[in-house]
Amino acid sequence: MKVFIAGIDGYLGWALAQYLAARGHKVAGNDMFYRRQWVEEVGSHSAIPVYSLPERLAAFRARFGTDILFREGDLLDYTFLKSFLADFQPDAIVHFAEMPSAPYSMIDQAHAAFTQHNNVIGSLNVLWAIKEACPQAHLIKLGTMGEYGTPNVDIPEGFFEVEFRGRKDVLPFPRQAGSFYHWSKVHDSNNTMFACRIWGLRATDIMQGVVFGTRIDEMGEDPILRSRLDFDQCFGTAVNRFCCQAVIGHPLTLYGRGGQTRGFLPLRDSMQCLTITIENPPKAGEYRVFNQFEECYTVEELAYLVQEVGSEIGLNVEIHHYDNPRTEQDKHYYNPDRNHLINLGYQPTHDVRAEVRIMLQDLLQHKARIMEKEDILVPDIRWDGSRRRSFIIDEQRVAPQS
Ligand SMILES: NC(=O)c1ccc[n+]([C@@H]2O[C@H](COP(=O)([O-])OP(=O)(O)OC[C@H]3O[C@@H](n4cnc5c(N)ncnc54)[C@H](O)[C@@H]3O)[C@@H](O)[C@H]2O)c1
Repeated sequence: MKVFIAGIDGYLGWALAQYLAARGHKVAGNDMFYRRQWVEEVGSHSAIPVYSLPERLAAFRARFGTDILFREGDLLDYTFLKSFLADFQPDAIVHFAEMPSAPYSMIDQAHAAFTQHNNVIGSLNVLWAIKEACPQAHLIKLGTMGEYGTPNVDIPEGFFEVEFRGRKDVLPFPRQAGSFYHWSKVHDSNNTMFACRIWGLRATDIMQGVVFGTRIDEMGEDPILRSRLDFDQCFGTAVNRFCCQAVIGHPLTLYGRGGQTRGFLPLRDSMQCLTITIENPPKAGEYRVFNQFEECYTVEELAYLVQEVGSEIGLNVEIHHYDNPRTEQDKHYYNPDRNHLINLGYQPTHDVRAEVRIMLQDLLQHKARIMEKEDILVPDIRWDGSRRRSFIIDEQRVAPQS
């Protein structure tokens, strides 16, 4: 199939290009290199070195024997986007090209406005460009499990049956997002659902959990083919951040009691799920929602797992609880469905321990790079708009005995 990846230079985009090429798909994509700039803006850099795009494209050609059709350009430039899609005529469009950080969107008014403008208008442009340039193409839109928030009931995949005053209907499940970034994804979901209804587009809205991992097998041993991996408070997701902290001997920064439960999945599972989705498109006019994660864990469970695996390879990992800079529930009910992808053949990895071991070993090679940025590991972006460094509320050296 011909697959267009919006945001191909990012953490997931660069890995997906390789996963698809290894399976015979033809890949094109765009990027504006914003992620590189945002990480620099917040004072950090990727733990794994990120090579220039020409170097990446050359390494890709050498490994897969095929080229990526790449054009530098912004999704907010509608003329650029529409003509690229018209030229390439993709079967599927995977849309990653958004600002993906909750804390970044909460820094101040300018960052909140930038996030919603970039994400909502960029996604709206993708919908219009598909309608005008390739209306049969399947849009795979990256949303997040964070759109649902943490309701005190089970979470279905997008829709649920409701009975109200004696009448029944199947309606979108309520969204209760927890940051201006997460709300941008909710707005995208509404626009995507509407475009499918009025224009007959076909789309899969992926409610993805938190991804972690330093590699997929398709990357081989070439360092140029590795995806980036961030560990700062904005762009470092939980397990990625913990592993970077573990290798330099910095205490893992758990926010609050660490009882926040989320769906997580290794990078290799994310690639498997996205490929299954691409290869099994919905029918014209259909808008479907997939919850995409391997398993639910509390953040504390994952911190202990990093600690245990770290000690197996000789690392002394401490865990500290910090006052939570975010406004979120520390302990809550969480039971989301994830049947659609399983029904299409997704086989969850389940071996999170093995994945964390690979990550720690990969990241040990970049210990010096992570240490250079040690001073940015404790968060200071607060949901009330202030900047105040989090303080330790509890020191816990080892896991409590169960
Ligand atoms: N990584 C995760 O754990 C995770 C979890 C759930 C959802 N997601 C979603 O998946 C998508 C990809 O995530 P990621 O971790 O690869 O993020 P990323 O920031 O590494 O990748 C996004 C890429 O899109 C580019 N981009 C952003 N806005 C653009 C624009 N207007 N025009 C052109 N390029 C633009 C960036 O430069 C970046 O390279 C995001 O939408 C994110 O919200 C990610």
